[in-house]
Amino acid sequence: MESSEIMLNIGCGPNGLNHWLNYDWGVLPLLSKFPGARRCLIQLGALPKGYDLPWARLKLVDIRKKFPLADGAVKFIYCSHVIEHFERWEALHILRECRRCLRDDGVLRLVVPDIPKLIACYQQAVAAAQPGARPARDLCRLWWGFDKDIAPGSFLGKLSRRFIRDHQWNYDRQELELLVKEAGFRAMTVCDFAKGAVPDLDKLDLEGHKAHSIYVEVTK
Ligand SMILES: C[S@@+](CC[C@H](N)C(=O)[O-])C[C@H]1O[C@@H](n2cnc3c(N)ncnc32)[C@H](O)[C@@H]1O
Repeated sequence: MESSEIMLNIGCGPNGLNHWLNYDWGVLPLLSKFPGARRCLIQLGALPKGYDLPWARLKLVDIRKKFPLADGAVKFIYCSHVIEHFERWEALHILRECRRCLRDDGVLRLVVPDIPKLIACYQQAVAAAQPGARPARDLCRLWWGFDKDIAPGSFLGKLSRRFIRDHQWNYDRQELELLVKEAGFRAMTVCDFAKGAVPDLDKLDLEGHKAHSIYVEVTK
């Protein structure tokens, strides 16, 4: 791959694509390199069954630090449901690193939970009044990105707190635009789900995030 053609997915989770450069960091990304060990942990009951996912090839890179890439080396960056897991000052540092690594004509696509859509989802669930539904619980889960109702005293509760970081900040369009401008980007365009300049959006934009996310692309 020519350095100028690099496509980078940061905080890819299990949704990376092998022809992209994928960065992630933590216990699950590490285990993705040892599927046998992961399966053993699942059989022993130490990890939930849902964690047996085929991850794409990835590099273990802590995106809070300087990315191991030259200035202007990257054509596209995809970053979905990641920056809200960091405090705003950390998210700003991550976006500044994205900007440093992007080509002048490069594009960064950001996907984050959107405060107005979260509220709309909650209001729709309240209006639908399905028996047994818990709209407030569902909103809390999306707001913090984490099942805060599982007691940390339980085994799974303790385990999940070791590698899941709940949301530290939330965004609407204005808050996102302030952040990207502060990071030095000039322009931000709001996009539809799976539509935009970044390639492979039919695979990268996940249906599960669609109802409550804002999709933007930013340029230098
Ligand atoms: C909510 S998941 C999002 C996964 C996927 N991008 C998506 O859209 O569903 C957040 C991801 O960020 C990763 N992550 C958290 N802290 C990180 C760090 N310091 N450096 C790199 N990745 C990190 C997590 O391991 C996880 O895969």
